Amino acid sequence: MTTTILSAASLAPAIEALRKGQVVAFPTETVYGLGADGLNGAACRKIFDAKGRPQDNPLILHVLDRAGLLDLISTPLASWTAALIEAFWPGPLTVVVQAAKSIPDVVRAGLDTVAVRAPSHPVARQLIAGVGSPIAAPSANVSGRPSPTTAEAVYEDMNGRIPFIIDGGGTRLGLESTVVDCIREPVTVLRPGAISVEMLASVVGEVRTAKPDGPARAPGMRYRHYAPEAPLLWIQSTDPGAVLPILNALRLEYPRLGLIAPDPFPVKEGSLFQSLGPDEVTAANRLFSSIRILDHLEPNAIVILWNSETGLGLAITNRIGKAATRRIVP
Ligand code: TXA
Ligand code: MG
Repeated sequence: MTTTILSAASLAPAIEALRKGQVVAFPTETVYGLGADGLNGAACRKIFDAKGRPQDNPLILHVLDRAGLLDLISTPLASWTAALIEAFWPGPLTVVVQAAKSIPDVVRAGLDTVAVRAPSHPVARQLIAGVGSPIAAPSANVSGRPSPTTAEAVYEDMNGRIPFIIDGGGTRLGLESTVVDCIREPVTVLRPGAISVEMLASVVGEVRTAKPDGPARAPGMRYRHYAPEAPLLWIQSTDPGAVLPILNALRLEYPRLGLIAPDPFPVKEGSLFQSLGPDEVTAANRLFSSIRILDHLEPNAIVILWNSETGLGLAITNRIGKAATRRIVP
C-alpha cells in the first residue's frame, strides 16, 4: 500500500477514506492518532492490524462534544462525568463510561465500558464532523514504540500500512490524554496526562490513582510502551552531583551513551544529547521525540534524567517508567 501525506488544508480525501472504512493517521493536541470509523467494526480491526496491537487493548472513541458522548453510553451521564467534561472538553481528557450496545465489540475489546474523548485539535474535529461518526483512534505508533508527535514519526512506523497521514505539524502537548475511569465515584486516573490529578480534584473532589503495581485497569497500561531500540536507563534524579558518577560508570558499560535531561544540565553529550527544556510543559512536548531522535543515532543505551511526580511531572514519570528497561535511584 502506498502511504500519502496530506496537507491539513485538504481533508476531503481523508474523510472519504474514513467513510469507506479505511484507516487514516491524523494530528490531535496530544499525539497523532490512527483513526477509523468507530462504529464500523471491520474498519476498526484494520487499526489493530496496522499497529500490531493486542486484541485485548480497547480503543478511544473521539467525539465532538457532550452530545457525541451521550450517543455512546447506556446509562444516564453521571454528575461527576458531566462536571469533568464541562471543565476539560474539548481537550486531553478521556472518560471511561458504560458503553452502548451499538459500539462494536472490537472497539471495547469485549468490555462493557468504552473510553471517549473530545479532542480540541481543528483537524481532528473536522474529521469527526466530516465523517459524521465517532472516530476510534489509538496513538499512531507501532505497538510498543513511542507515540508519534510529528507526521514524520507516524510515517516511520506506518509507511506502507495505511493510505493517508494528515500532516498537522508537531503536536501541542506531546503526551497522550489523561484516562479517567468514571464508572463510579470516586473517579480513578488510569493513565496520567496533561489534565493532572490536581486539576481533576479541583472539579470532583476526591480522585484515586490506579496503583502502578496494582491490577492494570486500563488494559493498555500492562504492556511495555514507548520503548526505543536501545536500552533506556532512567536515573531518578537531576542533581549533577548524584548523576555524574553514575554516568561515568555507565559509560564503561555503554561507550556510546545517549542522554536526555531537563535544562540546565552541565554535561552535554554533543550530538547524543537531547534537552527536555526548562519546564514540564516543554519536557512533555519533547519526551517522545527525544527518544526517537536519539534512537536514530544508534547509541548503546539512552539515559534519561527525570524526577518529578506532581502535575504534568506525574504523566512524564509514568511514560518513562513504562519505557525504561532499568531504573536507577541514586
Ligand atoms: O491522547 C490520546 O488519548 C491519544 C489520541 C490519539 O487521542 N490516544 C491514545 O490511545 O493514546 P491509546 O490507544 O494509545 O491509549 C488508550 C488507553 C489505553 O491504555 C487503553 O487500554 C485505555 O486507554 N482504554 C481504552 N478503553 C478502555 C476501557 N474501556 N477501560 C479502561 N481503559 C481503556
Ligand atoms: Mg498508545
